[in-house]
Amino acid sequence: MQITLEDGLRSACDQIVDTSTFVRAVLSGRRRNMQVGFERIDIRLVEIKGVLNLQLMQNDGRATTTKNLAPDRVVVQELLDSGYANIMVESVSQVYSIRITKSGDAQVHIEKRESQQVLSHDKKKDRLLDSSDPFLLEVGIADAKGVIKPSRQDKYKQVEEFLRILSPALNAAIAAGHIQKPTVKTPLNIVDLGCGHAYLTFAAHQFLINSGIPVKVVGIDVRVESRDRNNAIAKKLGIESTIEFVAEEISKTTSQPVDIAIALHACDTATDDAIGWAVNGGAQLLLIAPCCHHDIQKQMDAAPEPWTALTKFGLMKERLADLITDSFRAQLLRIAGYRVEIIEFVAGEHTPRNLMIRAVKTDAKPDAIDIARYLEMSSQWGVIPALEKKLPTLNIR
Ligand SMILES: C[S@@+](CC[C@H](N)C(=O)[O-])C[C@H]1O[C@@H](n2cnc3c(N)ncnc32)[C@H](O)[C@@H]1O
Repeated sequence: MQITLEDGLRSACDQIVDTSTFVRAVLSGRRRNMQVGFERIDIRLVEIKGVLNLQLMQNDGRATTTKNLAPDRVVVQELLDSGYANIMVESVSQVYSIRITKSGDAQVHIEKRESQQVLSHDKKKDRLLDSSDPFLLEVGIADAKGVIKPSRQDKYKQVEEFLRILSPALNAAIAAGHIQKPTVKTPLNIVDLGCGHAYLTFAAHQFLINSGIPVKVVGIDVRVESRDRNNAIAKKLGIESTIEFVAEEISKTTSQPVDIAIALHACDTATDDAIGWAVNGGAQLLLIAPCCHHDIQKQMDAAPEPWTALTKFGLMKERLADLITDSFRAQLLRIAGYRVEIIEFVAGEHTPRNLMIRAVKTDAKPDAIDIARYLEMSSQWGVIPALEKKLPTLNIR
C-alpha cells in the first residue's frame, strides 16, 4: 500500500509512543540524498525504576551504543524523519513496515502478528536466539544447561548478528514485493552455501520458524561428513521436513533457485561460486560474508604504478587484494542488477572476516560507467576475478 510519507511516519510514531502496545522498532537503510548517524537503530520499550523508556541501540557498523529516552512524540518523529529508508514497528498485534522509495514515497506493509511486550532491562532479552534452543546443544554451541560454551561465543555472536541483518532485509524485501509473503504452501526458500557445521543454517531456520515465517532451508557443503552429521541433527530435532543438507560443490549443486542465499565464510572462491550460483538462479537477496581471498592475490603479479609502494609489503598486498576482490564482487553484482552494500556484520573482535556483501535484486539496468569502471580495474591490475567467469550471461567483455 502506498501512502504519503508524512502519514506513514506519523502512524509509525503513534505506534512507537503508545507504550501500552509498542514492542520494538528497527530503523535501517538510508533515504536518497540523506545521511544517517547510524547504520541501524533498534528501539524497544524498557522499564527502568518503574518508568517506561524507549531504549535505542544504535549500531554504526562497528559498535552498538545504547541510550534511553522518554517516549516523547517530538523526539520520535525527529528520529523517524532523520533519513532512514526502512522502518519496522512491531506492536502487540501487528508489524508495520515502511520502505521509503527513491522518489520519497512510503510503501507500507502491515502484517497481523501477535507479540508480547518484554519490558525487562536485562540485555539477554535482546538475543534473537534463545541459548536454550536444543539446536544450539546439538550443533555444539551451547552446553546441556543452555549456556553458550566460551570457545563458541564468537561463532554464536557471528550467527546472531547475521540474523539481525537477515531479519530486516527479509521484511523489506517482502514489503517491497521482491519476495512473496511466505505461506505454508509456498515457504521462503533459503540456501546456506558452504554451511560446514551448519550453525547459521540451523539458526536461520529456528529464528524464522519462531518468528512465524514458513521456511525451507537447504545447507550445502562439499563434505559428506557435514551432510550426514547435519541431517542427523535435523532428524533428532524433528525438523527434517523443513531443513535438509546436501553434499555438493556449490558450483555444481542440484538445488533449486531460492529467494535468499546466505554464506558465512565460504572459503576463497567458494564465495564466488555462491554469488555466481545465487545470481544465475535469480535470488532476491544475498547476504554473503566472505572468507579468505587468494584468487586475486595470486594473479596480482605486477601492480600498476604507483601501487608497488604498497604491494611490496606482503601484509598490505594481502589486505589490498581482499578489498579489491570484494570491490570486484560488488561491482559485478551491480552490473547484474543488484543494489549492493558492504557492511560490517559483527564487531571485529568476533572475527577479522567481518565484512558482509548485502545485495538486493532490483533488476536495474547497469550504468555504462559501472561496466567501464569494472573493466578498467581489471585491466589496471591485470586480473580476471573468479566471479566474472561464473557470470557468463553478463557478457561483460
Ligand atoms: C570456513 S567453513 C565455514 C562454515 C560455516 N559457514 C560457518 O561459518 O561455520 C567453509 C566451509 O565451506 C565448505 N566449502 C568450501 N568450498 C566449497 C565448495 N566449493 N562447495 C561446497 N562447500 C565448500 C567447506 O567444506 C567448509 O565446511
